[in-house]
Amino acid sequence: MRTPEVRDYVVDKLDRILNPKSVAVIGASREKGKIGHSVVDNLKGEFPGEVYPINPNAERILGFKAYSTVNEVPDPVDLAIVVVPAKIVPSVIDDCVEKDVGGIVIITSGFSEVGNEELEDRIVKKCREAKIPMIGPNVVGVVSTFNNLNASFIGEPPIPGKISLVTQSGALGIALSSWTRMKQIGLSSLESIGNMADVGFNEVIKYLAEQDDNTEVIALYLEGLKAGREFVEICKEASKNTPIVTLKAGRSQRGKAATQSHTGSLAGSMEIYKAGFRQSGVIQVADLEALFNISLALAHQPPMKGDNVLVITNGGGAGILSSDAAEKYGIPLRETPQDLKKKMRDYMPDFGSAHNPVDITGQAREENYKGAIRDALNSPNVDGVAVLWCHTAFTDAKELAKMIYEATEEAEGSNKPVAVTFIGGESAEEGTTWLKKKGIPAYDTPEKTMAALGALRDYGRFLERK
Ligand code: COA
Repeated sequence: MRTPEVRDYVVDKLDRILNPKSVAVIGASREKGKIGHSVVDNLKGEFPGEVYPINPNAERILGFKAYSTVNEVPDPVDLAIVVVPAKIVPSVIDDCVEKDVGGIVIITSGFSEVGNEELEDRIVKKCREAKIPMIGPNVVGVVSTFNNLNASFIGEPPIPGKISLVTQSGALGIALSSWTRMKQIGLSSLESIGNMADVGFNEVIKYLAEQDDNTEVIALYLEGLKAGREFVEICKEASKNTPIVTLKAGRSQRGKAATQSHTGSLAGSMEIYKAGFRQSGVIQVADLEALFNISLALAHQPPMKGDNVLVITNGGGAGILSSDAAEKYGIPLRETPQDLKKKMRDYMPDFGSAHNPVDITGQAREENYKGAIRDALNSPNVDGVAVLWCHTAFTDAKELAKMIYEATEEAEGSNKPVAVTFIGGESAEEGTTWLKKKGIPAYDTPEKTMAALGALRDYGRFLERK
């Protein structure tokens, strides 16, 4: 069915889906191990709103009173999650229309992704006539960490944070929820939008950018768009306040064919997508890890207002790798500004190098890093700082992380981005985790750090053009 232009009622009612006071689970199963059971289980406990399991054969499910149909629920229903087999979906949508629910999320598979367009069109028509937004079908559900809503069958929900993940792949949503949790990358919400039969990327992006105060960055896993021209316009506007990062899948011939059977999407020409992303300020990344690494930097650091990155390292090799990566990501290193060269010498032995990348040597202690970072951030000739550390016997990752944080605090007014690499073992990982919790993006390779700074510069350039 044709995707219409952005509809105001959808954007407004998305709040009832992502910030509901009451949730009905239609197809709530009594049986542990079934999807409809785990959705109710996920709503048990921390979600502060009302939960209504709908099942004609049950009295109670997981302690909640069950109802035969959604119409029997005595109070208003903001969000209806549908988990009944495909052939029953049209009749439960009729019930949802009669009940005038705020929004619908259909987890059920078996629609356009398997060639069953007719069934999908029927339910879309019902929802549109009633002006009830519908997310799905063929999704894992939605999560909103700020109101403890896990209306999905995701087992390990994400930790709270500033990034909203909008994904066409539900299974990736499940996996990335656990992965971001492990990496201490917080999400504000997760929207699995599957077949995008009714609500697609455009309306979700507009809602997140304009109405969701918890989202600072929007991360997209995108297979194909149904309304490309509108996407460019929406993103151009949304990006002015909320950076958008996207991973476009379906770049190869086989990948394109797979998107058709996965979510019924047309992958389209990569060149056209690239041009659209560029025009609208959307930052395109190459893989899943980059999607979150870049989003993390954009969520916590200011955009970079000029091209001059100063690298501070205790290892020559790491410095060279960062120089190579800087070129790749559009921020080739320049010579250390004259005013800083002398200052940098204060933090290194005679055999160090004040050229960019500044090598304070393997002899550097935590306080040497602190002084060098603070002075670099305070220099009017530096626009961003990359800090690289290779694990040495006499430096402590946690202590260094604290010093880096203190340096950024002392140079707070500078409003310049900092990104960090800790190369080493478990303690290096602990150090990066600590930094991430403090809002400083930290990675395990110079390549990732320079990619993050490159994206912060790209975003800065987009804002300058605006
Ligand atoms: N209203 C409410 N509940 C109803 C109902 C109705 N009209 N008719 C039946 N039910 C109940 C059933 O009795 C059952 O509860 P029970 O287990 O207590 O008896 C429950 O709804 C589920 O129905 P069931 O027939 O057992 O279906 P299922 O749980 O095996 O499968 C889906 C349902 C939706 C999970 C399945 O069809 C499906 O689409 N799976 C794929 C989902 C997916 O992967 N999505 C994409 C993720 S990326």
